[in-house]
Amino acid sequence: MTAGRNESVLIVGAGCFGISTAYHLLQRGFTNVTVLDRSEQLPAPDAASTDLNKIVRTSYSDIFYAQLARDAIQEWKKTDEWGDTYRESGVLVLGPQGGHPYASKAYENDVALRARTVRFDSAKDRDGSAALRAVFPDDVETGSSFEGAAAYLNLDSGWASAARGVEVLMARVTALGGKVVRGKGVAGLLRDPEEGGRTSGVILADGSSIVARLVVIASGSWTASTFRDLDHLVEKCISTGQTTATIQLTQEEAARYRNVPVVLDFRTGFYVFPPTDDNIIKVGCHDSGVAHHPPENGTYRPVSTPRTVSSHGDDGLRVPRSSIRSLRSSLRGVYPELAEKPFAATRLCWYTESPDSDWMIGFYPSDPGLFVATAGSGHAYKFLPVIGLIVSDALEGRLDPAIARKFAVDRKPSTLDRFDLSRGFLKPGNLGNEPLCTPEDLLPGIGKNDGGA
Ligand SMILES: Cc1cc2nc3c(=O)[nH]c(=O)nc-3n(C[C@H](O)[C@H](O)[C@H](O)COP(=O)(O)OP(=O)(O)OC[C@H]3O[C@@H](n4cnc5c(N)ncnc54)[C@H](O)[C@@H]3O)c2cc1C
Ligand SMILES: *[C@@H]1O[C@H](CO)[C@@H](O)[C@H](O)[C@H]1NC(C)=O
Repeated sequence: MTAGRNESVLIVGAGCFGISTAYHLLQRGFTNVTVLDRSEQLPAPDAASTDLNKIVRTSYSDIFYAQLARDAIQEWKKTDEWGDTYRESGVLVLGPQGGHPYASKAYENDVALRARTVRFDSAKDRDGSAALRAVFPDDVETGSSFEGAAAYLNLDSGWASAARGVEVLMARVTALGGKVVRGKGVAGLLRDPEEGGRTSGVILADGSSIVARLVVIASGSWTASTFRDLDHLVEKCISTGQTTATIQLTQEEAARYRNVPVVLDFRTGFYVFPPTDDNIIKVGCHDSGVAHHPPENGTYRPVSTPRTVSSHGDDGLRVPRSSIRSLRSSLRGVYPELAEKPFAATRLCWYTESPDSDWMIGFYPSDPGLFVATAGSGHAYKFLPVIGLIVSDALEGRLDPAIARKFAVDRKPSTLDRFDLSRGFLKPGNLGNEPLCTPEDLLPGIGKNDGGA
């Protein structure tokens, strides 16, 4: 199955996958490319890709992603295209003494790919911990998370101003003649009975429809809840809410933290960014997150569905109290001073999780009119400049067969348990059972006596 360059392609979703796909299709000569998004405002305020910042790291235990991330960073560094969207702050990876299966392999891969790395071999001994401490400016207080940690700094990594990256690429899509249409929520697929039920377009929420020769589903965490009759998507694209929080620094504080690297602790999943230009520090945790099952009418089996600012207003920004507490205690272990400041804002940001944390990129089985590009599994943003190349290659039948199998919609993950080396077994909590944070929970002092997260 392949798509021709003069055929109409309709992409559902203007996030990282959708916009990068549109861009690369147009670049290689596709002539009729349209991106639809349900949001009136683009980038969509609650899209996973719309954020202050995302980590751009090459440190992956799977060398495929490590290499692809290096390719992406080559692109990110083209400031004539991206401006200063990408900031090469370095990423400091922490793991347990004696090695962490993911972090150790990631280090080997970074070295094999000749990334500039510095390893702090034995953080326990005095030289090791002094060297690790010297990564941070003298006037930045660091906490207990560094004691006894094995660590390495990847200097060829950093972070990207996430919403801005999408904006930049969206403008390039439009400049190349692609159409980006906002406020068009897709509710289902048009099927052509004369072509064996092949997908022939989309049905919108208002009942109207748009025809296209190829539909690309790139709707992120809304995929399973939108396309409920597509079993592979319902079973393999699981939405989980992940807590992030921000801290507003003063100008003086931000100046001190300006040159710290991103810190990513694989022992807990906790990560903390350097301050943005607006002096905001974001923290989060790469873990199992929480599922959200709104009441159903009984017709369909329940699927986890994002609960966000778009669906629930400001209440959609509240996060589980337990996760805000563990974020604060993890933050205390890295920057004790900042743990004494209130959180300025919180948000549940939704991962689209595949069973094996590999993306889903390929034609839907038995339907040459339907293609899927999603399941970012919490790590796709950094690939914004290049992910559409993989999608375009798959769509044109030019992807290396082994890679095509890795991302195939109907691949069979080796185990039914959802296991991700970077996070261990994935067992999302249930948002419905979690008390949500109140304004008091955002104040310092809460979570002070909690153990490590
Ligand atoms: C808290 C958090 C932290 C993360 N950290 C990192 C990181 O540090 N580094 C990294 O590389 N990655 C990170 N990720 C992962 C990354 O953000 C995602 O993998 C990536 O953004 C997913 O892109 P997407 O295009 O699939 O989804 P989205 O960006 O969510 O885009 C989907 C789009 O589809 C639209 N849509 C949905 N349903 C419909 C419909 N029915 N009709 C029309 N339009 C529709 C939505 O409005 C949205 O604009 C993180 C994710 C989260 C949530
Ligand atoms: C693009 O494709 C759509 C759907 O097939 C079609 O209606 C439209 O005329 C095409 N536009 C161009 C410029 O070919």
